[in-house]
Amino acid sequence: MNYFHYKDNQLYCEEISVQEIVEEFGTPLYLYSKNQVLDNFRAIDRAFADVDHVTCYALKANSNQSLLKLLATENAGADVVSSGELYLALKAGFQPSKITFAGVGKRDDEIEYALKQKIFSFNVESIQELDIINDIAAKLKTTARVALRINPDIDASTHPYISTGLKTNKFGIDISVAVEAFKHAASLPHLQVEGIHTHIGSQILKIDPFVQTATTIVKLVNELRGVGINIRHIDFGGGFGVAYKNAIQHPFLLVEENAESVPLREMFISSIVPILKQTGCKLIIEPGRSIVADAGILLTKVLYRKENSVKKFVIVDAGMNDLLRPSLYNAHHQIVPLTVTQGEPEVVDVVGPVCETGDFLARERKLQHVERGEFLAVLTAGAYGIVNASHYNARLGLAEVLVNGDKVRVIRERERLEDLM
Ligand code: LLP
Repeated sequence: MNYFHYKDNQLYCEEISVQEIVEEFGTPLYLYSKNQVLDNFRAIDRAFADVDHVTCYALKANSNQSLLKLLATENAGADVVSSGELYLALKAGFQPSKITFAGVGKRDDEIEYALKQKIFSFNVESIQELDIINDIAAKLKTTARVALRINPDIDASTHPYISTGLKTNKFGIDISVAVEAFKHAASLPHLQVEGIHTHIGSQILKIDPFVQTATTIVKLVNELRGVGINIRHIDFGGGFGVAYKNAIQHPFLLVEENAESVPLREMFISSIVPILKQTGCKLIIEPGRSIVADAGILLTKVLYRKENSVKKFVIVDAGMNDLLRPSLYNAHHQIVPLTVTQGEPEVVDVVGPVCETGDFLARERKLQHVERGEFLAVLTAGAYGIVNASHYNARLGLAEVLVNGDKVRVIRERERLEDLM
């Protein structure tokens, strides 16, 4: 179900008109639908129902405390990549026994903190890191549970900046030395080798790279068992893609061209579970985007219009510091007016107030004519949106609100000028 929809040509989130929300809370503003987050999480978690599993939400997609609390209450686990994320996960109520810690550059103090919190597992990204975790665990007179992140050299066919499973990417331990790395890990007295981790990239739209990876991992589990290393869990990472084009449809909205074909969340899982299940291992996945992306929108106000002989610009009050994805990856986010009307669309660049030419939300986009004072919604902005926001140009941190049915509440206050000091 899509909790963002039009009713009488007005954009609604669940049961509230978005226009009412922007008038009350101002812009730029991130707005999330509580029930969309819950539906997304439950659909993914249910798809694993017949195997021993944990769905570890990847905090990097959005680590707002209220959203985290929602997921912790659903019994989700957490995938963290820094002591900051670990702290936020613990504060939100995630059980340490369901927290995994990944990342190529864990600092010693972060390893120590995670060991003291007794997390489920470190997803180790290099052979040197194995030695360091072993040393720190020895110092603390404890044992670290570890999974080795394997880089399978499989092409996820996604944007090069978010592809992680190729030899040329910095992530994981090369598959060709995996058995040796596991043997080394098993020889270290303060490590308990528990699992295999892999994550081949993000916004993946094809099932095949997942199937190939699952097959590779199962082969490795069997090989390891053959040399006496018993793997108990497989952490398959995240990466399930979502639809950015035509996220909302309406007879007055233009159908966006070249839309990606996106498999259902459940299909990604149903394609890998039968393969991974053969090992008898506990399964872990780390979805981020597929849980929160379509549950969030960025709201912005039109400040000015201007045009020259080649371009029409719609200048809005949200910029690349609020939503970096278009500038960084040339990512497409559908942009819709809060009130749709029938009429010829115009081709515009939707640009922010930041002093950079790269500060745009959309370029050469067909959009309904909008005037100063009207509002636009940038869709599918719940993942990798607010978490990448910055204070560039000393712009104030924006507010976030959460809708539940016909209620809305602030889940992050808008910053004030004094907060910049
Ligand atoms: N696990 C690991 C180890 C990861 O590195 C990531 C994402 C995830 C899980 C979650 O992946 P997801 O299910 O969200 O695809 N900023 C980029 C995305 C970067 C993804 C980084 N790693 C974007 O805006 O598209």
